[in-house]
Amino acid sequence: ALNVNDYLKSHMRTVPDWPAPGVQFRDITPLLQDPRVFRVLIDAFVHRYMDPALRPDVVAGLDARGFILGSVIAYELGLGFVPIRKKGKLPFTTVEETYELEYGSATVELHTDAVKPGQRVLLIDDLIATGGTMMAGKKLLEKLGATVMEGAAIVDLPELGGSDKLRQGGLQLFTLVAFE
Ligand code: PRP
Ligand code: HPA
Repeated sequence: ALNVNDYLKSHMRTVPDWPAPGVQFRDITPLLQDPRVFRVLIDAFVHRYMDPALRPDVVAGLDARGFILGSVIAYELGLGFVPIRKKGKLPFTTVEETYELEYGSATVELHTDAVKPGQRVLLIDDLIATGGTMMAGKKLLEKLGATVMEGAAIVDLPELGGSDKLRQGGLQLFTLVAFE
């Protein structure tokens, strides 16, 4: 019998040479497509954050794949969901954070009323590579006076150093599958 982590890993798809030669792209879409796997995936997060000691006040999701997971997890926990979006998509006043990519930079935004000072936020994405996206999300939430109680993702790519960097930056992390 497989444990949950191995079961989920066995349903991942790896696409060679996408989006560039030499990259092994870890694709989560098969986990969403199969209803039994999707339920195991979401329940793995929901069971963790139902624990009163780990229950957040609100769930934040990172554009775009963090939305797919984060909104369902928030709904199941009886919590609200707030989106952290790529620049230029949110209509109300925002805070923004720019971070470095392999080539160039990216900017993400959050509505200024999305969280209240002192709220404990669970920050969700599908995958941690260099950690830049999740670190930018943490900074945005902290600009509004909230605390990120944990960052969570399906996949960690530890060789890229992102999860180590995030933990050294003081972020507690929870991931389900690692690919070396
Ligand atoms: C991917 C992934 C994470 C991020 C991880 O998103 O879904 O959000 O990159 O990389 P990092 O740890 O190096 O920051 P992408 O920017 O491709 O956007 P998408 O979800 O809109 O496809
Ligand atoms: N899969 C999905 N998203 C990613 C990856 C990957 O392998 N690397 C950086 N973002």
